[in-house]
Amino acid sequence: MSDELEALKQLYKKYGQEHVFNFYDELSAQEQQELVQELRDVDVADLQECWEITQRGDQLLDTSAMLPIDEDLIGSVNSTKEDVLQNYEELALRAISDGHIGVLLLAGGQGTRLGVPYPKGMYDIGLLSGKSLYQIQVERILRLEELAKRLTGSSGKITMYIMTSDHTKTPTQDYFVKHNYFGALPEQIKIFEQQTIPAFNNKGKFVLRTKYNLARSPDGNGGLYRALREEKILEDMDKKEIRYLHVYCVDNVLVKVADPRFMGFCISRKAEAGNKVIEKGWPSEPVGVVVRIEDKVQVVEYSEISKENSELREKDGRLTYRAGNICNHFFEREFLKRVCREHEKKIPYHVAKKAIPFVDPETGIQIKPDSPNGIKLEKFVFDVFQFSKSFVVWECNREEEFSPLKNGEGAAKDTPSTAREALYALHRRYLKEAGAIFSGGAQDAAELSPIVSYSGEGLEAYANQSINLPVLIS
Ligand code: UD1
Repeated sequence: MSDELEALKQLYKKYGQEHVFNFYDELSAQEQQELVQELRDVDVADLQECWEITQRGDQLLDTSAMLPIDEDLIGSVNSTKEDVLQNYEELALRAISDGHIGVLLLAGGQGTRLGVPYPKGMYDIGLLSGKSLYQIQVERILRLEELAKRLTGSSGKITMYIMTSDHTKTPTQDYFVKHNYFGALPEQIKIFEQQTIPAFNNKGKFVLRTKYNLARSPDGNGGLYRALREEKILEDMDKKEIRYLHVYCVDNVLVKVADPRFMGFCISRKAEAGNKVIEKGWPSEPVGVVVRIEDKVQVVEYSEISKENSELREKDGRLTYRAGNICNHFFEREFLKRVCREHEKKIPYHVAKKAIPFVDPETGIQIKPDSPNGIKLEKFVFDVFQFSKSFVVWECNREEEFSPLKNGEGAAKDTPSTAREALYALHRRYLKEAGAIFSGGAQDAAELSPIVSYSGEGLEAYANQSINLPVLIS
């Protein structure tokens, strides 16, 4: 046995993980090599410590002391005057022309609820145009660049960073190449990868996926901060002079990528970090809520809020904790640098109980459990809000900004159909507000290409025009 193998075995034994070598002697030379390679790269001491911390459960802020966020942190699209909104927009569009705004798409999730074997961003929700979520998002970026150019005369680019993981990176890369980056410049789209970490069984042992591989999964969307550092994204932002980042999740068909009002609001308030929210609709809605715990702003995830807190209501009947997180975050580059330098290691892991297919370490039999048999540790992207010195919240309207694709067709909500209908309803509204008159079924499909309109602007030509639904305007 080589010295390295012996040392590795001792190391894993020290942390109670020696079962990972149970099948070593029966593996082929290549399989042995694969196993050793994988185990060599795992920071077993660190993971063991993380496991112990999560078992004690004291890594997270104590939510029993939570309170609604202070009103003075909040701006709202509904209560802000039109001229102020316009100022925000202009501020952001100028920043776009100067190349100071970038977006970062979180696309490393496994999309298990939707149940497709490819990245969610490639999903075609059945729009008239057949566009995927990725394509819609890129086209919204292109439209904003155009609007910024019309305002300032200079054409700045919005860099799109896409955080992928082991299983979404290659298909995402191939998809963008195949579709010519949907009209963006190849150098404008930068795809990088977050790390995966081993899953644990309920007793804290690493789960074997095969006799020579660990079961691994991405380390949550809060794996962003490690990836920003390791993948040298912050250096890239420095080089390109990108000062502000809009970070968002992949599944919301209505997402206003780099929303100039939101970005402008955050920039004008000199915020280090900001979060967009909608009013949470009902107690069990699966959205996190932004709250204050002591003097810190925190998102309490839907899986972690107590039933009692989630059901609490004000006198007017509205939920007390209603600042619903829609995974649209604003970050200033310098804040991200500080987070990566000083806090990244301390971002807590949350526990997600999952059904993880595994090889029985005693018998070698492959088992596919139906119910949770293990634990994945995940960091959350919003857990860095507490480190910001200036934080703001921007309230917006659900029907304009939030319709996530979480589940497959047939589920009660957040399906391809509900996402499609939400987009059609919004686009019908944009056309109506521009003065269009519909013929055909009033509820039929209307789809505006983002290249034509980002959020209802530029539709003057449809005033008093009769439009026969369904319609695709591109
Ligand atoms: C997320 C939010 C929740 C919010 C809801 C709105 C987090 C932790 N939770 O919940 O507060 O109310 O969206 O729809 O943000 N991802 C990665 N890497 C990972 C895991 C996930 O990049 O390791 C990405 C996914 O691809 C997705 C995003 O993070 O784009 C959100 O992940 P998802 O698991 O869908 O979060 P939700 O549970 O829906």
